[in-house]
Amino acid sequence: MRVIVEKSADEVSRRGAKFIASLVRRKPDCVLGLATGGSPLGVYAELIRMHREEDLDFSRVTTFNLDEYVGLGPTHNQSYRYFMQSNLFDHINIEPKRTHVPDGRALDFEAHCRQYEQRIADAGGIELQLLGIGTDGHIAFNEPGSSLGSRTRLKTLAGETIRDNARFFGSEEQVPRLAITMGVGTILESRQCLLIAMGDHKAAAIRSTVEGPVTAQVTASALQLHRDVIIGLDEAAGGWLERREYYAEVERANELLESGQLRALGIGNQ
Ligand code: F6R
Repeated sequence: MRVIVEKSADEVSRRGAKFIASLVRRKPDCVLGLATGGSPLGVYAELIRMHREEDLDFSRVTTFNLDEYVGLGPTHNQSYRYFMQSNLFDHINIEPKRTHVPDGRALDFEAHCRQYEQRIADAGGIELQLLGIGTDGHIAFNEPGSSLGSRTRLKTLAGETIRDNARFFGSEEQVPRLAITMGVGTILESRQCLLIAMGDHKAAAIRSTVEGPVTAQVTASALQLHRDVIIGLDEAAGGWLERREYYAEVERANELLESGQLRALGIGNQ
C-alpha cells in the first residue's frame, strides 16, 4: 500500500484527478471504476476542468460504478446514476453507453448482478478503481461482515451507513435499506485501486484499513491483499496513522527515484 498524506482535501482531489487523467491520456480506451459520495466530488470537478481547459478526452473511456441504492431510479436526485450524471458524465465527452451504474430498479437482482460482473469482464476488467471509505470501514457498500471474496450482489446497509448518509436524504427514514454493490472480490480484481479519504471522521477507519489486521469487519482492510493500492489522505484522515513518518519517507524516496537523484538515495556513491 502506498499511503500519501496531503496538506489539504483539495490537494488529495487534485492529485487523485491527475492520477486518473494520466491513465486516460496513456490509455484513452481505459476502464475506470468510479465511486459516489462526498469524497470524489473534488476529483470529478477537477476532471471536468481538465476536460474543458486541457482537452482531456473521455470519448473512448468506459466506466463502472461501485453501487446503487435499491428502489431509486435514474431520475431520483439521490440515486447514484443521477449523482454521476450531474457531477461528472453530463460535463465531459463520455459516451452514455459506456457508463455503467447498477440498476436500483432491476426486478431480477441476481440476474442483474451476474450481468454487471459479466459486463466488467467483457470490457477487459477495471484498470483503476476509485474508492471512498465509510466510517465503518466499508468500501462500496460492503458493510462489516461482508465476505472478502464477495461479488456484485444485494446488500443491507448498516445502521452507521444509514446515519452517515441521512445528510443527503434529509432524514434517516428516507435512506434506502438495500443497495446493489460490487463485492470485495470484484474490487480486488481491479488492476489498481485509489482510495481517498478526507476529514477526521475517517481517521479511525483509515487506521484500521492500513495498520489493522485484514478482517471482514473492516472490508477496506482487504486492500492490504492487493498488489497496487494508493491511499490518498488529507492530514485529518491520516491523523491516527502510527507509521506516518515512514509513509512520508517512502514518498520522499519515490520522488528522488523519479527525478533521477540517485546519489541522494546512496546509489552509485561507492
Ligand atoms: C459510494 C461508495 C461508498 C462511499 C463511502 C464514503 O459509491 O461506494 O463506499 O465511498 O460511503 O462516502 P463519503 O465519500 O460520502 O464519505
